[in-house]
Amino acid sequence: QITPVLLAGGSGTRLWPLSRKSYPKQFTKLVGDQSLFQASACRLSGPDYAEPVVITGSDFRFIATEQLRAEGIENGTVLIEPEGRNTAPAVLAAALWLEARDPDGLMLVAPSDHIIPSSAEFAAAVQMGKDAAIDGNLVTFGIAPNRPETAYGYLELTADPSEAKGPIPLARFVEKPDRETAQAMLDSGNYLWNGGIFLFSVKGILDAFHTHAPQLVDQVRTAVEKTQPDLDFFRIDPEAWKAVEDISIDYAVMEKADNLVVVPFNGGWSDLGDWDSVSREMGSDGDGNAVHGSATAVDCANSLLRAEDDGVELVGLGLKDVMVVSTRDAVLVADKSRAQDVKKVVDQLKQKD
Ligand code: GDD
Ligand code: MG
Repeated sequence: QITPVLLAGGSGTRLWPLSRKSYPKQFTKLVGDQSLFQASACRLSGPDYAEPVVITGSDFRFIATEQLRAEGIENGTVLIEPEGRNTAPAVLAAALWLEARDPDGLMLVAPSDHIIPSSAEFAAAVQMGKDAAIDGNLVTFGIAPNRPETAYGYLELTADPSEAKGPIPLARFVEKPDRETAQAMLDSGNYLWNGGIFLFSVKGILDAFHTHAPQLVDQVRTAVEKTQPDLDFFRIDPEAWKAVEDISIDYAVMEKADNLVVVPFNGGWSDLGDWDSVSREMGSDGDGNAVHGSATAVDCANSLLRAEDDGVELVGLGLKDVMVVSTRDAVLVADKSRAQDVKKVVDQLKQKD
């Protein structure tokens, strides 16, 4: 069995004002009637999987268990991080936790900010990667790129994916390249995007951390060993956690390891990082508008209108390339080309508080 490790500690600031400090995007119902976190948990449930380990911040512990329970997932473990330290410490904490419970097991690390419409195709991809993971390799899932995105990792292939029958060994992992490098990699046709989902054995990933980030292992081990139960949750020691370095698993391990393989995944994938990607996922009316809730678009084109609170009547009239997101207590009105800059707005608002 594979233990799903659900990363649910990010803050999703580019999706303000729907994604809030106290209720980040992974727990909101952005598309469809499940939250992204719920969809992710459901994708990784069933006979192939053990109960999940969720790792998240203290503020989200009740939301996480409540949402799991609503999906019939009752016995997951919620590990509480005292503070977000990015994905390397979170994955390492989960791996150390599992080392004491299922040392020969496999873990599937999944972000909770993604949409994968086809669970069946995803399950097939996981099956395809399983043996490589049992052999100690770090398995990534690769998405065919269609733009020079700088927010993703890139996987350099050693074989043509259309001819590959199993996982392909990687020549290189490049995290968040600059624009020029991203364009060159896209043009070469020899790279896939890193989907941000990883499959490995508990042993395999711990070996990789020991080799490439030994200090981090010591820091996180100290904190995890002092974990205390709190109601149904497990609280990692806050004092020891203070010493833990802030770094993503992509930089700490994936860029350095030489035992990476990739399973190409064509089943549809989207990282719902900003309002632009959300509106692409929402589908549109005949004029390219994505409309949600009680919002109405009149003579609008290529715009996003979202009324998150039913008590608000939101109407767009004659808009072009505009996004409007209204909630009970905040409204965002922005040019569609500025989707990435919403993060800056949130930083600015924080300074005002
Ligand atoms: N528990 C916990 N603690 N979770 C975290 C933390 C943390 O400190 N920081 C981030 N996460 C969660 C986020 O909520 C998200 O679900 C996942 O970990 C990945 O973090 P992101 O911050 O969204 O990473 P990214 O999107 O910049 O980059 C990663 O994903 C891309 C694909 O979406 C990388 O793996 C890239 O290589 C990849 O292409
Ligand atoms: Mg992300």
